[in-house]
Amino acid sequence: MIKQGEAQGKYPLLFSEGRLGNLQLKNRIGLAPMTRTSAESNGVPNETMTKYYTRYAEGGFALLITEGTYPDEKYSQGYLNQPGIANEAQIKGWKGVVERVHEAGAKIICQLMHAGALSQGNIYADETIGPSAVQPKGEQMAFYGGNGAFAVPKEMSQEDIKDIVRRFAQATRNAKEAGFDGVEIHGANGYILDQFLTDYTNQRRDEYGGRTENRVRLLVETAQACREAVGSDFLIGIRISQSKVNDYTHKWAGGEKDAEVIFTALRNAGLNFIHVTEHHADQPAFTEGGPTLASLAKKLSGLPVVVNGNLNTPEQGEAMLESGEVDVVTLGKSALANQDWVKRVAEGKPLEEFAPQRFFVPDAKVKAFEL
Ligand SMILES: Cc1cc2nc3c(=O)[nH]c(=O)nc-3n(C[C@H](O)[C@H](O)[C@H](O)COP(=O)(O)O)c2cc1C
Repeated sequence: MIKQGEAQGKYPLLFSEGRLGNLQLKNRIGLAPMTRTSAESNGVPNETMTKYYTRYAEGGFALLITEGTYPDEKYSQGYLNQPGIANEAQIKGWKGVVERVHEAGAKIICQLMHAGALSQGNIYADETIGPSAVQPKGEQMAFYGGNGAFAVPKEMSQEDIKDIVRRFAQATRNAKEAGFDGVEIHGANGYILDQFLTDYTNQRRDEYGGRTENRVRLLVETAQACREAVGSDFLIGIRISQSKVNDYTHKWAGGEKDAEVIFTALRNAGLNFIHVTEHHADQPAFTEGGPTLASLAKKLSGLPVVVNGNLNTPEQGEAMLESGEVDVVTLGKSALANQDWVKRVAEGKPLEEFAPQRFFVPDAKVKAFEL
């Protein structure tokens, strides 16, 4: 049996203090954002969620990134029972979560997610919006209570675009008011900002469509507006991916050239970090033997990088940190299976494998997961 301290000695970087912006982290291990559809139906975070997040804080994670949280009472909600951060009741609900997580010794940031054309459950709107009237690939997710094809979204006007930017900025203010240590703008996984970034969902002919430089514009403008809303001290990051929840194998058509345009554009957007997620974050992003997406993000943006994607073991996380390409490692499924992942590793205890059947309740209509 490895004793506490010995394991930490085995993974010196994982267990070393880190920093994102002005935020001091007690180690380099974070919880990846995971939708759990466990808020009240009006999007207010509740005691179940408070207990859920507090368990990760008690389990040793330095940084928790919340599940995708909708920023407005319009088109952004993606799933029924998803939490929001758009009104006073939701802000108050989050305050309860944040306080308890802080008491348990972790930092917590709010992931701001606008589902756009992938919205499949919204109490505020019957229609969806997107950069272009293109029906999303794939089918709605049954384990989040959806079924059948996605609706064809309404093409957004320039005014709609300005409105989204304003609403992300307001949600950032709300997150600050709730006591969060920062926000992560969800620019990944097929949701609205990624719909702008993606060639086939964005067929616009204005300055937000066409070349990659144009398709990344809304991500930059959103980040800048969030920064202006809260000043320089509040942590703001953005999450970027190639794959999407409804298009698992998508790769950027321009490969490394696209990475260059995207990460260079994000360099001067007022961000403190980029959170990169790939299926296997330690593998080349485009061609065999080539760089990982995380290393491209670091090199091209010059910003701290948070990395995610099948880095389930401490060896994998330590190796990513050793490469010097990343600053913090986040865990999704492995954290679900081990809410005390950090403590277990520190104490040399074995990790549980992720078993989907324990987390995805088969016939659930809305409450898809056991927390
Ligand atoms: C149940 C579940 C819900 C998820 N919800 C979100 C989400 O709300 N926002 C997000 O950016 N990613 C979400 N993801 C993706 C994870 O953050 C992560 O990128 C993915 O699980 C891969 O990392 P892993 O191999 O460590 O699990 C979710 C993943 C799972 C398993």
